[in-house]
Amino acid sequence: MAERKPVHITPEELAEQRRYAAMISAMANRPESYHVVTYGCQMNAHDSEKLAGMLRDMGMTEAATREEAGFVIFNTCCVRDNAERRALGNVTWLKEVRKRNPKLIIAVCGCMIQQPGMAEKILRQYRFVDLAFGTSNLYKLPQLLYQTLNSDRTVIEVEDVDTIAEDLPVKRLRNDAAYITIMYGCDNFCSYCIVPYVRGRERSRDMEAILKEARELKEAGVKEIMLLGQNVNSYGKGLEGGVTFANLLRELDEIGIPRIRFMTSHPKDLSDELIEVMGKSRHILPQFHLPVQHGNDEILRRMNRRYTRAQYLDRVRKLRESVPGIGLTTDIIVGFPGETEEQFRDTLSIVKEVGYDSAFTFIYSPRTGTVAARMDGQIPEDIATDRIKRLIAAQEEGQRKAMSRFIGMEEEVLVEGLSRRSDADVSGHGRHGVSITFPGTEADIGQIIRVRVTAMKNNTLVGERI
Ligand code: SAH
Ligand code: SF4
Ligand code: F3S
Repeated sequence: MAERKPVHITPEELAEQRRYAAMISAMANRPESYHVVTYGCQMNAHDSEKLAGMLRDMGMTEAATREEAGFVIFNTCCVRDNAERRALGNVTWLKEVRKRNPKLIIAVCGCMIQQPGMAEKILRQYRFVDLAFGTSNLYKLPQLLYQTLNSDRTVIEVEDVDTIAEDLPVKRLRNDAAYITIMYGCDNFCSYCIVPYVRGRERSRDMEAILKEARELKEAGVKEIMLLGQNVNSYGKGLEGGVTFANLLRELDEIGIPRIRFMTSHPKDLSDELIEVMGKSRHILPQFHLPVQHGNDEILRRMNRRYTRAQYLDRVRKLRESVPGIGLTTDIIVGFPGETEEQFRDTLSIVKEVGYDSAFTFIYSPRTGTVAARMDGQIPEDIATDRIKRLIAAQEEGQRKAMSRFIGMEEEVLVEGLSRRSDADVSGHGRHGVSITFPGTEADIGQIIRVRVTAMKNNTLVGERI
């Protein structure tokens, strides 16, 4: 693979984008409102906050629904086939909406657009799309929208470069909790995964830029930050001065934001130093999302995960030693090409052995261009469906056991909203990452409240204020 260097978008280029935003804001025929539809992971959710920030600077207001908006952006995901189909289904549906509202402008961006051949496909099959741009061109939205408003043709901009754009406007979804991207892209090339192809090579933001953002968020009263990256454990690779993720966490811990979380971690890069920092820190929450993907060594090898079952379990043991009671969550794939019944049982057994607080379980989905998509032994759907059902059952059993450790414990809960089940209750996440429901009102939203966990009902924890 050819060496690629990250491209830092210069302040001059960003000033140019702000000029485009100002020009759009002064245009009579610009849309008045926008709506962003987001698919995929937290990285995409945060990208959507940046899109919203740029649109706000173009003088547009947010429409509550896409039907009411003059400009609709679909920020897409392509990690599995169903994510992709959902996005495309919706875009096609919008074609109908546009018949009723001919002035509607439709844009598609995100990971799906960054796939090879996508630009041609849009021009061929989705002619009603006005604008399409890839993940590396997000910062250019003002210029691209300006071109779109001044042309009858579909505007498409997809470059395969590894951009880092600092100081983009952001319109955050929450006031109390905020995302901070610390690294972009991924170099791991797990054999099933499309992400390295659509998000580019791994690159880290400068530590100073991250710390500055965190300090500003602290000033603004933010109570929780979530550090984002496809592989946060390898933060610092390629930066000068040999900084590591553990260094970054140490510095962030000093700032004094009450709660710090991060995702996603890769087991092969989870260092002893990081585990030690977690054990000593005041603000890093005792929770860890550590995707295992599979419990069998041969499958892990063919997934190109570069750890064994024993090495994974050793990391779990160390984490639990250093941070007693730590909340562990994971991602698991069933039906990887060639997976035998016996190998699948190794996944069932590792789930039981670890005892996760929660797990995201997926049926393997072949992605064009990845190594696994060309492997022999693709698993029939009925077998994969049967396996995922058994996996979910095993996980739920383990989860009930794991979560019972919280009963009687005190937890600090950052209240996110009224409970879905009752208006007399609120819910939010405890420090260990588990959701807790307790009596409260709207006034509690955004506050950190001490709660004693009293019981587990239908797999969720309930408690009372202390
Ligand atoms: N960088 C993160 C997240 C990647 S995408 C990580 O390494 O964990 C989130 C999850 O989607 C992955 O952890 C994996 O479990 C799942 N996934 C990725 N590609 C997939 C595919 N082709 N089929 C099924 N699940 C997949
Ligand atoms: Fe995909 Fe693996 Fe990178 Fe995660 S670490 S984004 S699963 S290639
Ligand atoms: Fe999907 Fe892209 Fe995230 S493919 S999971 S939105 S990095």
